[in-house]
Order: sequence, then structure tokens, then C-alpha cells
Amino acid sequence: MILSGRARLAGVVGWPVGHSLSPRLHGFWLEHHGIDGAYLPLAVAPEHFETALRGLGEAGFRGVNVTIPHKRTALALCDEVAPLAARIGAVNTLVFEDGRLKGSNTDAFGFLENLRQGASAGEPPAWDPTAGPALILGAGGAARAVAVALLDAGTPDLRLANRTAARAEALAQELGAEEPGGQVTAVPWERRGAALGDLAVLVNTTSLGMAGEPPLELDLDPLPTGALVTDIVYAPLETDLLAHARARGNPVVDGLGMLLHQARPGFEAWFGVAPEVTAELRAFVLAA
Ligand code: ATR
Repeated sequence: MILSGRARLAGVVGWPVGHSLSPRLHGFWLEHHGIDGAYLPLAVAPEHFETALRGLGEAGFRGVNVTIPHKRTALALCDEVAPLAARIGAVNTLVFEDGRLKGSNTDAFGFLENLRQGASAGEPPAWDPTAGPALILGAGGAARAVAVALLDAGTPDLRLANRTAARAEALAQELGAEEPGGQVTAVPWERRGAALGDLAVLVNTTSLGMAGEPPLELDLDPLPTGALVTDIVYAPLETDLLAHARARGNPVVDGLGMLLHQARPGFEAWFGVAPEVTAELRAFVLAA
């Protein structure tokens, strides 16, 4: 990669950031489109986050992605926040413009685009978010983005089950209050199996099933075989949840696509080209 003095610069700010696949993913698109630009991993400790953001803006960066543990702080620092990011309570994409920080959250977009593309790509039938109830396992940051995405897409009945019941209850109450049309309820973690019987969508947003974490214990017997099952965990790519769902005939979509699709709006804003998520990109990112 040879850059000119006018190269467009962006990156991902995290702490740590070494595990991030974003440099590889944006690097693929930069090369694919022959863009004079770079996307860098930027390891910034929490106490230096604000100074680093201002400095990157001063140094001519177009913007950055923000990852763990900075997503909520980024929201607080923005001069301008997209309404969706405010509802999710976190910013993952920043654009620096005229000394101002403009924040958005592309996780909900990434989640929906992944389901739309994943569910229409092959075997599984096309996905209709309005078809029936959805159950989200988890109530952390990722669950918030997924919940907002599903509600905005028209899911009529959203259920949240979380180990720590109070987090699911608080999220259900908050989202239910702003969603007069839809219904949002918390389900006790021990009763998650009983909430499967009439589902159209099942989403795991917990870390259960991730390499090095405990397995997700869930008997899928009551789940209709037409229900779409997806996991935001993508290491391993085929979690036990997805393997079991696939084996019984459910359409499944893995979590890597959410990461790939959430990156699209940032890339377009910084580098001026709308990139695509292709099989080639997936294979390249997986080969990391
Ligand atoms: P993220 O931003 O990725 O969602 P998070 O906010 O740390 O990360 O959320 C992790 C989710 O995984 C939470 O819903 C967490 O449940 P708690 O709210 O009870 O902590 C869930 N989780 C993590 N380990 C778990 C376990 N061993 N059993 C059940 N749920 C677990």
C-alpha cells in the first residue's frame, strides 16, 4: 500500500484493539476499490480517549469506528448524535467534520442487513421481520442494538431473556415505552425455553457459545422449524445454537455478516464509495 499526501485516513479505536477484524475488512475494500486511503488499528486507553479523538480530527482523519470499551463514552462526547445511536445508547461510527464529532450507530443496520442478505442467499426462505414474535437472549449493548433493529423493522412482539433479570426488565420497559405499537416483555432466564413455541426469530446476543465461554443451554424442541435462528457470536462461525437449529431444519444466519454489514456506512462516509459484502470478503476476513 503506497499512500499519497492526500490519503484519506480512518481507523478503529479500542482498548485493546489487536483482536479487531475491522482493519482487515476495511483494508480489503480499500484495495478492492483502489482507494488512496488507510484504515488503522488505534489502541487508546479510556483516560486518553477524548484527547485521542480530538487529535485524530486535528490530524486530518475522516473519522473512526469505536469499539469496546469506548462506545458509550463516544456518545457523550459527540457534538451531533444520530437519533438511532441515542436510542441504542452507544456510538460505533464517528465522522470528523469541521472540528465537530458526528456519531452514529450502525450495529442495528448491520444486524438487519445480515439477516436480509443471509436469509435470502440460499436455502432459507426470505426473512419477514413482521411475521411473528422474536426472542433475544441477553440484555447488554449488543442486545440493545438488536432490539431496536427488530422493533424498527416491525417485529410485533419482542421478548428479552437475560441471566440478570433486572437488565432485561429495564430494557423492556425503556423500549416498550417508546414503542406504543409493539409489545416488549422480559422473560425470566429460566423460562427462556418456554418462550420459543411461537417464535419467528431467535437471536443470541450473549457471549455464551463463544470460543472459551460456557455453552448456551437451550432445548430447541418447542421452536417452530420455520423460525429464523441467528447468533451474534462469530467465533466459532457455527455455534452450537446454529448447528442444532440447522440440524432440525431451521433457517440460520451466522454472526459474521453483522460485523461486515455494520462497517458499510462508515466506509462510505470516510472513503466515498459504497462497499459490498461479498463471499470473497467473508472468506478474506475468515482467513485472518
Ligand atoms: P455486549 O455489549 O456484547 O452485549 P455485555 O453488555 O457484557 O456485552 O453483555 C453480555 C451478555 O451476555 C449479557 O446479557 C450477559 O448477561 P448478564 O447481563 O446477566 O451479565 C450475558 N452473559 C454473559 N455470560 C453469561 C452466562 N454465563 N450466562 C448467561 N448469560 C451470560
